[in-house]
Amino acid sequence: MHPYVIINAAISADGKLATKERKQTKISGTDDFFRVDALRAQSDAIMVGIGTVLSDDPSLRVKSEEYAAERRASGKDPHPMRIVIDSMARMPADGDMFKKGLGRVVIFVSEKAPKDRCDALREKAAVICAGKDSVDLGLVLDELGTLGVKQLMVEGGATLLWSLLSSGLFDEIRTYIGALIIGGKDAPTLADGEGFTNPDEFPRLTLKNIERIDDGVLLTWMKKT
Ligand SMILES: NC(=O)c1ccc[n+]([C@@H]2O[C@H](COP(=O)([O-])OP(=O)(O)OC[C@H]3O[C@@H](n4cnc5c(N)ncnc54)[C@H](OP(=O)(O)O)[C@@H]3O)[C@@H](O)[C@H]2O)c1
Repeated sequence: MHPYVIINAAISADGKLATKERKQTKISGTDDFFRVDALRAQSDAIMVGIGTVLSDDPSLRVKSEEYAAERRASGKDPHPMRIVIDSMARMPADGDMFKKGLGRVVIFVSEKAPKDRCDALREKAAVICAGKDSVDLGLVLDELGTLGVKQLMVEGGATLLWSLLSSGLFDEIRTYIGALIIGGKDAPTLADGEGFTNPDEFPRLTLKNIERIDDGVLLTWMKKT
């Protein structure tokens, strides 16, 4: 069974995830930081695309020692499983995900990934082939279900989110909208990719909650079924 998929992202008031140089930017404040940390701690796994790893080098660990201790007390790893979607096994072997935290790292690659890169990564992470030219996200969700992942948090970026959103592979979207404008037609947005032209294809959402946090707003959307 597929895990329950929660997409979580922070965007500027003009809908950008980062600057046009694809540099990580502080969009939210302290309270939202704790909200995201709590969501990480509640999740069984956290996923990002390789573009986010190469831009931001995230550790994706639970930052609060209290949350990590609660996870330990319930018999879990202190940090959720970290997952990277990476067709060509470009994941840097010295990435922060390997330095910080004690959770498992799983890298999904495609059949096109060079064998020597996969072998090198296998020393630090589980490497699973899922897909021919790029990673097949349906297969990834099947595999994560088999590995016991019940709740998956997806933290971006724009290309991975487009793939999940456009193929209906999500349940919920939590968008924090920060009080700033980033601008730039080439800056990544919540969903990049090809985009739809036919309105019949637009994934439709139901607004579940609105919450004011810091100087912005958190919108919780459900996939309309
Ligand atoms: N504000 C936020 O909350 C937030 C959160 C995360 C990221 N970001 C920003 O987002 C930007 C990165 O986004 P991005 O679009 O460049 O990268 P991304 O979405 O993180 O990763 C995309 C890459 O994943 C790989 N991939 C493999 N199979 C795929 C599939 N089926 N569907 C989609 N991707 C697949 C592809 O590379 P290969 O072909 O090499 O596999 C693709 O280029 C950065 O600027 C980062 O700062 C912002």
